[in-house]
Amino acid sequence: MSLLSVQDLAIRFSTGDGTVHAVNNVSFDIAPGEKVALVGESGSGKSQIALSIMGLLAKNAQVSGRILHEGRDLLTLSQDALNKVRAKKIAMIFQDPMSALNPYMRVGRQLTEIVELHEGLGRADARKRAIEAMEAVQIPDAKNRIDAYPHEFSGGMRQRIVIAMALICKPGLILADEPTTALDVTVQAQIMRLLDEIQSELNTAVLLITHDLGVVAGFCDRSMVLYGGRMMETAPTKDLFAAPSHPYTRGLLRAVPNINDAAGELRAIPGSPPNQLRPLTHCPFAARCVDAVEQCRSTLPELTGEATKRACLRPVEALS
Ligand SMILES: Nc1ncnc2c1ncn2[C@@H]1O[C@H](COP(=O)(O)OP(=O)(O)OP(=O)(O)O)[C@@H](O)[C@H]1O
Ligand SMILES: [Mg+2]
Repeated sequence: MSLLSVQDLAIRFSTGDGTVHAVNNVSFDIAPGEKVALVGESGSGKSQIALSIMGLLAKNAQVSGRILHEGRDLLTLSQDALNKVRAKKIAMIFQDPMSALNPYMRVGRQLTEIVELHEGLGRADARKRAIEAMEAVQIPDAKNRIDAYPHEFSGGMRQRIVIAMALICKPGLILADEPTTALDVTVQAQIMRLLDEIQSELNTAVLLITHDLGVVAGFCDRSMVLYGGRMMETAPTKDLFAAPSHPYTRGLLRAVPNINDAAGELRAIPGSPPNQLRPLTHCPFAARCVDAVEQCRSTLPELTGEATKRACLRPVEALS
């Protein structure tokens, strides 16, 4: 049974230059408690997928497809109904902790507000929950720090508070969009360890968006690779690293000999990203693909397979 089922999701933006085809008929499922990575180069559509699940797309977006959560299509819910899902059932952690926090409000109030609104707790109970939430993300002296303002915390501590806000209602699914990118390397590792601990304790499902293959290897059960708003490959993480089956994934991983050496940023592949102002009529990676044949420039491959799914016309054995 899947917790979230994204089906045929397409996201377009109307702009002065024309229609931007940001996400092109993407489908995937997340099971309860599953940790899934979403990787792909800048502009591939990762954040827009997460935002569409939260109902937070920009005004100029047009979205189609279905996002089923507990049997309901989130794309058809009213703002009111969606507000109930957000925070309580699905929470999002953004890259920049300062943008997720209100600088003029004490952190404790920002935490209590959520449980007062979503769980109807009174002031005193809400405060207790807020302290527990801060302790769960290992903020020292939470009882006193609860009355501090965001700027009184370090970047790493602020991101812990953002995580506490995401977790305070114990949602079944967390969407974490580059949760550690704004932090330095040691703090990144602490935050990922913390997320991992909390995840296994609460059995929360996580969709993790990241550029860092080391984080993917260390944290995620399954990985999904996006290119030009299209799903290229999805596989159990260990299989993806051991035997990437899509030329794009191979390009990304070429610098990474094995899963244990998977530290660092995604590698750049020669060529430029696809022009998203044109609707997709063929494989978006064809222009940069070392294995492309004529048919790749005229046909749009579907994502097919079992444990490993790939969208490529070329058989794995034929790849260079
Ligand atoms: N409001 C908007 N209007 C027009 N285009 C948009 C809008 N929002 C996003 N886009 C475009 O949608 C595409 C996908 O953007 P998205 O933010 O999902 O990328 P991403 O994969 O998260 O990249 P990054 O790794 O840089 O965060 C990009 O080409 C982006 O420019
Ligand atoms: Mg993004």
